[in-house]
Amino acid sequence: MSGHGTPIPMTSRPCGPLTGEAVVPGDKSISHRSLILGALAVGETKISGLLEGEDVLDTAKAMRAFGAEVIEHGNGNWSVHGVGVGGFAEPDQVIDCGNSGTGVRLIMGCMATTPISATFTGDASLNKRPMARVTDPIALFGAQSVGRSGGRLPMTIVGAQDPVAVRYETPMPSAQVKSAVLLAGLNVPGQTVVVEKEATRDHTERMLAGFGAEISVRDTDEGREITLTGQPELKPQDIVVPRDPSSAAFPVCAALIVPGSDVLVPNIGLNPTRAGLFTTLKEMGADLTYENMREEGGEPVADLRARFSPDLKGIEVDPTRAASMIDEYPVLSVVASFAQGDTVMKGVKELRVKESDRIDAMAKGLRLNGVEVDEGDDWWVVKGLGHGNVPGGAICASELDHRIAMSFMVMGMAAQKPVSVDDGGPIATSFPIFEQLMGNLGSDLLRAEA
Ligand code: S3P
Repeated sequence: MSGHGTPIPMTSRPCGPLTGEAVVPGDKSISHRSLILGALAVGETKISGLLEGEDVLDTAKAMRAFGAEVIEHGNGNWSVHGVGVGGFAEPDQVIDCGNSGTGVRLIMGCMATTPISATFTGDASLNKRPMARVTDPIALFGAQSVGRSGGRLPMTIVGAQDPVAVRYETPMPSAQVKSAVLLAGLNVPGQTVVVEKEATRDHTERMLAGFGAEISVRDTDEGREITLTGQPELKPQDIVVPRDPSSAAFPVCAALIVPGSDVLVPNIGLNPTRAGLFTTLKEMGADLTYENMREEGGEPVADLRARFSPDLKGIEVDPTRAASMIDEYPVLSVVASFAQGDTVMKGVKELRVKESDRIDAMAKGLRLNGVEVDEGDDWWVVKGLGHGNVPGGAICASELDHRIAMSFMVMGMAAQKPVSVDDGGPIATSFPIFEQLMGNLGSDLLRAEA
């Protein structure tokens, strides 16, 4: 688990063109859900292309603790023998979800309507993050929770004895909260309804339907309304996990800012609830194309080709797109530093409660590297210096946040001077092959501070 180990300082030095193919790992969101839904099905779910990052491995361990048999076959191939909806056993140990908000929130949801108790903890980052967004809705089903002040982990959830179905409007755009409520609704008679004002990633809905649950979605005046009929028998699936667009973002953005680059990133899931970054980059003038567009396992997939783009310009990012690129703002802010003019990012309050306060972490590091940033509670503006003009030269704090660490590594590839982070360890939570993959493309990363 990240945050428990010795810090790994890392430096990224300015490098020549990035070229070749970048085969990024499986999608993190879909990997968590494959294990969790596999554990709730009856029979054997087979998974290929699972992301074997620390976050997902922690979810695999948790599913074992709740009684599912989870077997690793090597090379991203896994199988899960599920216990069925309502079949979770009470874990006899504390569930440590490491760095993963998705892991802990989804698992809290799916045990909340089974009459068992479980205690959850995480690393120093996760133990600071708000859990009331999940304990509030699961209380409506009848679950109880006791945690630290501010609704923080460690926390014990006591599942409801006689859960009742609920209708819940999510107070913030969060796929984790939506998913926690839907997963809780699985073991409840009747219909559980979730309404979200803005559409967030819809993997839970798609996958629940794939596992045979009765689930429908309609657009209403209040927002996107999802209705799930409780107590289905989930049927095991063969799942091929698409490659993660949020990981693809790093080689793509690096290629756009390093002179002479031409990188192909094959087989990327382009679910519209996830692909906002790529639309935004194109609006900024990125030379980014989708090749070989196709559909796989119900998800749109394409090969992305990114080439050096010397004339990037700052834009105002459409705030209605925020949920579809929420994890990509840190690396977008790096690209924005190399663009001409201001990039304005609004409606992004949720960035403040991710693995770190991502506006704060990026703003501090960008400023140290010579880039001006303005910020407010739910907005920030990066004042781009244009290609070739970003000074670099600083050591940044990665704040136990994989995406902050990788974003500054990308910055160092095209800045005038190397850029370092105090700890690259968290990268292993979502992208364990990052250094090797970027190195193969031609980046110059080393494990030491400059
Ligand atoms: C995720 C949802 C998002 C995202 C996270 C993964 C998911 O979090 O930032 O990396 O898999 O459901 P929120 O639900 O907090 O927006």
